[in-house]
Amino acid sequence: MSMFAPAACSVRAISAPTRRAPPVIRTTWSRKDELSILGFMRRNDTAMAAQRELVLNDAQARHCARMQDYLAAQIGAAQGWLSFERFMELALYAPGLGYYSAGAHKFGAGGDFTTAPEVSRLFGACVARQCAEVLGALGGGSILEIGAGSGRLAADVLSRLETLGQLPERYWILDVSADLRERQQRHLAQHLPHLQERVRWLDQPPEEFFDGIILANEVLDALPVARFRWYHDRVEELGVVIDAGRLTWGARPASPPLAEACRRLADSGGAWDDGYVSEYCPRLPAWTRGVTGCLRNGAALWFDYGLPRPQYYLPERHEGTLLCHFRHHAHNDPFLFPGLQDITAWVDYTHLAEASRGAGFNVSGFTTQSYFLAGLSIDQEMQSIAGNDANLFARLANQARQLMLPGEMGERFKAMAWLRGLNLPLSGFALQDLRHTL
Ligand SMILES: C[S@@+](CC[C@H](N)C(=O)[O-])C[C@H]1O[C@@H](n2cnc3c(N)ncnc32)[C@H](O)[C@@H]1O
Repeated sequence: MSMFAPAACSVRAISAPTRRAPPVIRTTWSRKDELSILGFMRRNDTAMAAQRELVLNDAQARHCARMQDYLAAQIGAAQGWLSFERFMELALYAPGLGYYSAGAHKFGAGGDFTTAPEVSRLFGACVARQCAEVLGALGGGSILEIGAGSGRLAADVLSRLETLGQLPERYWILDVSADLRERQQRHLAQHLPHLQERVRWLDQPPEEFFDGIILANEVLDALPVARFRWYHDRVEELGVVIDAGRLTWGARPASPPLAEACRRLADSGGAWDDGYVSEYCPRLPAWTRGVTGCLRNGAALWFDYGLPRPQYYLPERHEGTLLCHFRHHAHNDPFLFPGLQDITAWVDYTHLAEASRGAGFNVSGFTTQSYFLAGLSIDQEMQSIAGNDANLFARLANQARQLMLPGEMGERFKAMAWLRGLNLPLSGFALQDLRHTL
């Protein structure tokens, strides 16, 4: 048994949705006038000075203003109401303006949030062990990583696969962010110059079919979601309007497909009160089918914070799971700094499991990040990295705790494996099988 055997999973411990964003100063933002985006633009030097760590520099303020103008034009063109799904898509991906398409810093101490590969190379080492099993069973193959962030996971996976003697033929990276792509290239050039030839960046999934693995850590949570409000006799879709010069919420009757989807969700979540608000990701099936269509035989490994549907849509979670990140502050106002802040929603893992069937895969494993890492012998990875260096071992043990403790990333984050053309027990899912919860 691993020295990091995870604690039992509890719903309570995972009820506060957050990307790993230390320190989370607060999770609910007071929507005072001076913090509204337009008010903010006017009072950048006064009211915001009190929130020192949140004052935007001139370039950021200009960026925010351009994004507001752009959103206002989009809302105008849509007769005054934009679905939240479309708003989130624009706020994250509008060319040159969106959070992921423009050049915000995003990762690490000077960024907005921290992810598992940023916390520790142990995460990538364990993912590599899982990849080695799959590549071994396939007799070789390639890896496609979607949304590679700073490039750390790619570097950690490749370097561990090299020592395991299981390097992939190709390591493709598919990322929407030009800025992060540059950062990934720098990171890999610096840390693995001898493996650069194997790494390729793509704008869309590979055209050729390949055998191997698809990896995505914390990408699904960025897929734009529809936001809905529930009344027993009707379902409303929440969208974005401009009121007194400010972006704010506006409700409309949900389209028949969204209303139907929400009724199905209501059936699995329990009795919702009137006014219950949550999210649903209509594009999850098409998106996952699109990015996995090129995999002939092998595994898709998904990592993200999320829940099986019955827990996701519990009546108590009546404000949904929407969460924004700006300079390590987590809050729930998507209109605060559009284009400068990350906007995310938790993953409904039952939906992801359903999507696997449509994409032609079987779900072969679903577990918490904690059990995934324990199943891949994170303790052995620590020993092998640290050798006789007691200080390094202590640092790694601390990082492992961050990755695995229930109150940290251990339970909120889950791992799911899809397999196609391969029947293989995967070690990352051997210690705990949560598929019955989906
Ligand atoms: C939160 S970061 C996670 C990065 C990295 N996987 C990690 O764990 O550190 C999300 C990453 O996904 C990329 N991304 C977001 N949406 C995407 C999409 N629709 N297709 C491909 N990449 C996407 C972003 O540019 C970024 O690199």
